[in-house]
Amino acid sequence: MTATVRAATASNARILSSLQPPPNVVVVGGTSGIGRAVALSIAQHCPSAHITIIGRNESAAIDILPQLGSNPKFLRADVSLTSEIRAVTKKINAVDILVLTEGILTMTGRTPTTENIDNKLALHYYGRVLFVQELLPLLRSSPNGGKVLFVLDSINGNPSKINWNDMALENTYSLSSAANHALSFTDHAIQYFASQPENTNVTFTHAYPEVVRTNISDNLPFWARFPLKCSLAIGLGVTPEDCAELMVYGMLGTEKGYRYVDNKGRTVTKKIPLQEDMVAKVWEHTSRRISSN
Ligand SMILES: NC(=O)c1ccc[n+]([C@@H]2O[C@H](COP(=O)([O-])OP(=O)(O)OC[C@H]3O[C@@H](n4cnc5c(N)ncnc54)[C@H](OP(=O)(O)O)[C@@H]3O)[C@@H](O)[C@H]2O)c1
Repeated sequence: MTATVRAATASNARILSSLQPPPNVVVVGGTSGIGRAVALSIAQHCPSAHITIIGRNESAAIDILPQLGSNPKFLRADVSLTSEIRAVTKKINAVDILVLTEGILTMTGRTPTTENIDNKLALHYYGRVLFVQELLPLLRSSPNGGKVLFVLDSINGNPSKINWNDMALENTYSLSSAANHALSFTDHAIQYFASQPENTNVTFTHAYPEVVRTNISDNLPFWARFPLKCSLAIGLGVTPEDCAELMVYGMLGTEKGYRYVDNKGRTVTKKIPLQEDMVAKVWEHTSRRISSN
């Protein structure tokens, strides 16, 4: 463990163990990888936290639940679908910390869900925003202040490459445009949420985990997966456990409003400022998309 991770872990332990009442935590994508490690980290620092993980893999959830403190819960949902997100959020009656780590790595082109949203964009962007929107009333009333963490990529979004004429990429989809829309829209969305006066008790953090040794590449074709797995095996990237501490550290360090943090949980300084009218435009598009199903 590096000195940076050690310092982040100590800080997380200090903050999380002193929260009263213990926090209600929801980790979407908590059955695997970074989300799983975030859930375990919070449980370790605050065993009386109420931790709920959301995903589809019930057997993975059963394996991890006994390690999630005294009040663990698993809610099964396919979170690529707005209908399932609406249903699963109705089962949650308190949340202080919402962590969004659901995602996939794929080289397949546009793959519409049954709701006609591209699967990757649904997981990496639209569904995440819907989780926030549905849970905001609970986050706003959090006694210690609500916290939302988006684990995606706060560094590489490029607003100048957004296709404003095809924001959902129904006609001009490419892997790079889908990646850029998910990252850039997340940057815009957290700025929008933080600008709303009713959300002053909630912070929004978009974090970049860097390369993390998880199984996210398992569905890539062999020729793409093999070199990546070899690089990971010889030391590329960080462990999910170290990444989780740094992501949680970044989230807890956001004191108000929104913040973009890097792979060490530090503020990203070289960020192109977003224009207010573009923030409004992204929000208008997003709210239309997530309410139309
Ligand atoms: N690993 C990296 O190097 C890296 C780098 C940069 C960014 N990221 C981003 O960080 C996030 C987490 O990555 P990871 O490496 O931790 O991935 P991972 O180990 O593959 O975990 C992904 C999680 O997403 C959940 N998920 C995927 N599709 C779902 C669906 N349709 N419904 C419900 N849950 C679903 C999975 O749950 P179930 O299997 O239970 O459905 C799993 O818990 C991703 O968004 C990824 O893009 C990762």
